[in-house]
Amino acid sequence: MEKASIDEVQVRGKKVLVRVDFNVPLDDNRQITDDTRIKAALPTINYLRDQGAKIILVSHLGRPKGKVNPQYSLAPVAVRLSELLGKEVIMAKDCIGQQVEEEINRLGEGDVALLENVRFYEEEEKNNPDFARKLAALADIYVNDAFGTAHRAHASTEGVTKYLPAYAGFLMKKEIDVMSKALENPTRPFTALIGGAKVSDKISVIENLLKKVDTLIIGGGMANTFLKAQGLEIGKSLVEEDKIDLAREILDKAKNNGLEILLPTDVVVSKEFKADSPSRVVQVSAIEPDDYALDIGPQSCELFAAKVIASQTVIWNGPMGVFEM
Ligand code: 3PG
Repeated sequence: MEKASIDEVQVRGKKVLVRVDFNVPLDDNRQITDDTRIKAALPTINYLRDQGAKIILVSHLGRPKGKVNPQYSLAPVAVRLSELLGKEVIMAKDCIGQQVEEEINRLGEGDVALLENVRFYEEEEKNNPDFARKLAALADIYVNDAFGTAHRAHASTEGVTKYLPAYAGFLMKKEIDVMSKALENPTRPFTALIGGAKVSDKISVIENLLKKVDTLIIGGGMANTFLKAQGLEIGKSLVEEDKIDLAREILDKAKNNGLEILLPTDVVVSKEFKADSPSRVVQVSAIEPDDYALDIGPQSCELFAAKVIASQTVIWNGPMGVFEM
């Protein structure tokens, strides 16, 4: 998949709006517990700094549902990014508007500003054209380096490309290159692990992978929908009732095509959806009506790991449980 890359354009002195995915996990004290996503954006940011661009970073954090909520402020990210860059990152109070424009106009070559959470505006997720135009008005060039958010057609990922020349950042390019190679010409056996909360978020990924992989491993919250599709009790666990038929179709399709689908055989359950509530490991056939399945169990870990070890190509997308707990 060919994408125009940032190293194909002259950026010196230009204002470059970079969509990054700084949707990092935070603890109760708003301390970042994993800065992988910030570090993953460094090659693009450092390259743009070396080239003398004025860098405007834009990201979401969490799901504040279109309302300003300090709990979802990107301020802790600006602090961590400043440490990683060895240079102060200017934290903007907003992501659009006159004050932000003034702050950006003060940027020198190589300076970095981080806009406040773009999801404080409901227009972001609605991909509102006016909002996209306002974001675009901040810059001369747009770079998308938010691979983790690239499946969302939002104003800061898709809308903005209508108003600015758009390029892929290095993280985006790397992910596309690796993924293209894996999908176009995989060394077999080829296994994909898919996790995360929702089948609906990943349905096109699953359908696409079904045509390519030898084994599909499904874990995380979405596994519950598949377990329920097989007639199992899943208690109070997260489930998408309206996707149960679809899950059943996927399982049937896989069976008819000789494709292996692995689901958890055991799970970690708890009576409450809380990090400190007592947990047990049970077989998937022994989930009680008041249990929440929160993670895959040790037997499933062994099963999945053995398959991964025996594979020559592995793609992993999404967590196998409520990892943030
Ligand atoms: C993620 O963490 O999966 C991405 O940042 C996208 O977040 P979202 O699922 O809230 O759109």
